[in-house]
Amino acid sequence: MHHFAYKKGVLHAEDVSLALIAAKVGTPFYCYSTATLARHLDVFRKAFGQMDTAVHFAVKANSNLAVLRTLANLGAGFDVVSGGELQLALKAGAKAADCVFSGVGKTKEELRYAVDVGVGQINIESESEMLSLSAVAAAAGKTVRVALRVNPDVDAGTHEKITTGKKENKFGIEWTLAPGLYRKAKSLPGLKPTAIAVHIGSQITDLAPFENAFLRVREMTLALRAEGIEIDHLDLGGGLGVPYDFSAAAPPLPAAYGQMVGRVFGNMGCKLSFEPGRVIVGNAGVLVAAVTVLKTGTAKKFAVLDAGMNDLVRPAMYDARHDIIPVREPAQGALQTKYDVVGPVCESSDKFATDAPLPALAEGDLVAFLTAGAYGATMSGTYNTRPLVPEVLVDGASWAVVRRRPTFDEMLALEQLPAWLK
Ligand code: LLP
Repeated sequence: MHHFAYKKGVLHAEDVSLALIAAKVGTPFYCYSTATLARHLDVFRKAFGQMDTAVHFAVKANSNLAVLRTLANLGAGFDVVSGGELQLALKAGAKAADCVFSGVGKTKEELRYAVDVGVGQINIESESEMLSLSAVAAAAGKTVRVALRVNPDVDAGTHEKITTGKKENKFGIEWTLAPGLYRKAKSLPGLKPTAIAVHIGSQITDLAPFENAFLRVREMTLALRAEGIEIDHLDLGGGLGVPYDFSAAAPPLPAAYGQMVGRVFGNMGCKLSFEPGRVIVGNAGVLVAAVTVLKTGTAKKFAVLDAGMNDLVRPAMYDARHDIIPVREPAQGALQTKYDVVGPVCESSDKFATDAPLPALAEGDLVAFLTAGAYGATMSGTYNTRPLVPEVLVDGASWAVVRRRPTFDEMLALEQLPAWLK
């Protein structure tokens, strides 16, 4: 459930008209709803009933400072995958102890920074990283709580570009190699291996792959404990899918996921933590764009928008679908026309939808891409020298620009001509 709905014929974010924001801010822009963020966090937390759990929002899904501050104020911790994300989470108000540092290629500088600020847990993804972290922690005179991120070799049944839990993926430590590395971790200075981490992919719409992976984690927990490695914490990653296509079957709700987690881990006496990104922020955000050009050919009608693949890359990159709806509510029973909805970028893959049924559009009309709050703005870029899209946060009847559109000079601010070209 989200808080974007038509009111008096115009799509609103909570109590604010998206047409009004467009008039003030210009298009395209991302808009996030505080009430939706809060609701999703609450629903996710409640899915685990009385179990001892913690939620670490995956910053990569949406790293806007105001969004992170909103979640931090609601008591969320954070899952970070770079020194930059860690710095951002701290700036948003998180305690370092409530941050988990994941990622397959952390540099020694990043590890040192994480150890210095006292991050709550570091998820190790290779033997090499384990040795580096041990050296860094020992040099700082600290002992760090670590998990090994295991790769359970389970097919998540999602798009191949967002699958992470098969042994041919670069992520995690191969399932069969993990016990040996736990023994080694236990013997190394500066490391306290107390947890197992697993994350098998993203936009997973079936509980079976999660359950298969979790059963392996359970089995490994029992085996490690039997040899005296005290595992008291399991980090079960993120990955729960959200509905992008409202005409298709809905993915499992957090409650069903929580019940499955309870079935697998209910009696293990472990703290459980989660790293959800998309399920918290996905449908808490929309991307609003305007129709720049309508173009009719013999085979196709094109609606060319002022948003492009640089602003929302998911359709081009993962063949992802985002429902596109007009900001002005169409009249009941309005005739629909099929459009290829495309962006202005000079790439054929700059296409958002093929033959999408929409009410007749006019140039200047506004449309909204739904479920654009996760991996939208964070994956945007400036290809074709297009400025990054502004972001707006709504809370009830209040709204604010939380990242503004850069000027052309700001876009060029890091470039300089060498002496011989001046
Ligand atoms: N934890 C780890 C270790 C991860 O790698 C990820 C996502 C998450 C948590 C959060 O997963 P979520 O709950 O959001 O599914 N750009 C792609 C998704 C990439 C996901 C990368 N890892 C997309 O737009 O579909």
